[in-house]
Parts: sequence; C-alpha cells; structure tokens
Amino acid sequence: MICVTTGRSEPAHDVGLAYALAAELGAVYLRRRCRTNRRLIADAGLDGLVVCGDDGVVWHDPQGGTFRFHPNMAVTRVRSRRRADPPDPLVRAARLEPGDRVLDGTLGLGADAIVASDAVGPAGVVVGLEASPVVAALVRWGLATWEHRCSPAMRRIRVVQGDHREHLLERSWLARAGWDVILFDPMFSEPVAGSSGIAGLRALACDEPVSAETIGLARALVSKAVVLKTRRGDPHVVALGPDWWTGGRGRVVYAGFGPAGAPGGGDDGLG
Ligand SMILES: C[S@@+](CC[C@H](N)C(=O)[O-])C[C@H]1O[C@@H](n2cnc3c(N)ncnc32)[C@H](O)[C@@H]1O
Repeated sequence: MICVTTGRSEPAHDVGLAYALAAELGAVYLRRRCRTNRRLIADAGLDGLVVCGDDGVVWHDPQGGTFRFHPNMAVTRVRSRRRADPPDPLVRAARLEPGDRVLDGTLGLGADAIVASDAVGPAGVVVGLEASPVVAALVRWGLATWEHRCSPAMRRIRVVQGDHREHLLERSWLARAGWDVILFDPMFSEPVAGSSGIAGLRALACDEPVSAETIGLARALVSKAVVLKTRRGDPHVVALGPDWWTGGRGRVVYAGFGPAGAPGGGDDGLG
C-alpha cells in the first residue's frame, strides 16, 4: 500500500496537494500526527510514502530510498542548445525543429522532454508517457511548479501515465494523435557514469528494453524519426538496424529510425 502525507506542520495547501495526489495514485491520505517517515512506513507496513512538504513532493521507500523531481541536466542542455555550443545530440538525432510534435515514450525525470519542448517551442507539442504512476505524478507536479528560465518549456509538457507498448499496440488516442518524432530512452542495465541524476528513479522505473515491435509500431506513426537512446555498440539496438546514429556524451549514442517506408539518412558513422 502507498500513502500520501504532509510535513510536520500540515499546512492547508500541502494537505490539499496530498489529497489530490492520493486520489491520482489510488493511494490513502494519512495524517502525519508528528510521526517520522520511518515510523509511518513501519506502522502501516507501507510500500512507499509520498510526502508533500517544505521540500516539495518526495517519495520514500521502506529501504530509505527517495525520489523527487529535478530537471537533471536539462537546464544546462537548454542553455547550451540556445547558444548552439555544441548542438544538443538529442535535438540533432531527432532533427527537432520549432513546431514539431514529439511523443517521449519514456519520460522519466523529463530532462529530454524539457530539451525537446524548448527546441519545438510554443508552436510545438511534447507529450511524455511514463509507466510508473509515482514517477508520472511527481514529475507532472515538478514540471508544473519548478521555477526557472526553462519553466515555460516545462509547463508545455503534458504528462500521461501509461505504458508506451500498450498505447502503440492498442492504437490508443495517443498513438493516433500524429507525431513528427517519438523518443525512447529506456533504463540502461547498468547506470551510466556521471548519471547520478536518475539514481533515485531506478527503484520505481520500468526497466524493459524497447523491442523491435515497438520500434516498428512507432515508425508507422512518425513523419520524421523515432530516436532510441542507448549505449554505443549495444547488440540489441544494433540488431534493430537503425537508419542513422548520432553521438552523445561519453558512451551514449542515439539510434535514429526513419518513418516506415522512408529511405535511411546520414549519420555520425557510429554504427
Ligand atoms: C532512463 S529513464 C528516462 C529518462 C528521461 N529520458 C530523462 O531525460 O529524464 C526511463 C523511464 O522510462 C520509463 N519507461 C520504461 N519503459 C516504459 C514503457 N514501456 N512505457 C512508459 N514508460 C516507460 C521508466 O519507468 C523510466 O522512468
């Protein structure tokens, strides 16, 4: 069972937020009554506790792990992208332009979605799909409230909780919406060095790889590209036969797939 509570002072706005998040997560609102997080989790035998308090909205698990929204590297990437020094590899791999409609099939902390949202601008659309209900709820709240120069790009992202495989297979409203680009950034089996930003996500995230079937379904829906973030030389992704490769930071690369039936494009020669 998951519960949602407030900080110690239980102010009315946090109580209201806690009730709203409890309803969204199908969880139970629990009054704190001065108990510690550890005591609340132990007494009620909880699988997790969401706390709405002075630190924002934070997930706590029984092992002491926590998860909260933060824009990770997105702020630095947006700044560099605007100065074009160097061009952001995701923007380059996906050939993003103002006005594009982008579906991020693996939202996570939303860093890639924020960069994409800044690149496509107010005329574009970015929807982020996230399988984990807790991650989706906390990231939706973070994108709606985080104050920064990137806030307009954050506010334009629409977060949908769900599994991209089901949406694509069942051709849900989301799959029928019409996309220029679909992005996938699945969990790597081992953490990427220097990527401590998503450490708190690991325990909550869906860690299935992106299948050939998913790529095929996505290619049938895009006008420009399907882009899959991966590690250089990952045999699973090489076997998917991308149309182009774009280099990222360190060992990260982006595999690009053109729309179904379209000829392949030029790349960084990484394949
Ligand atoms: C590596 S993280 C993505 C990080 C993200 N690109 C960013 O910039 O913050 C992968 C996320 O995708 C989610 N995910 C994995 N498989 C999914 C699926 N089939 N449908 C929706 N979300 C999925 C995971 O739960 C996790 O939150």
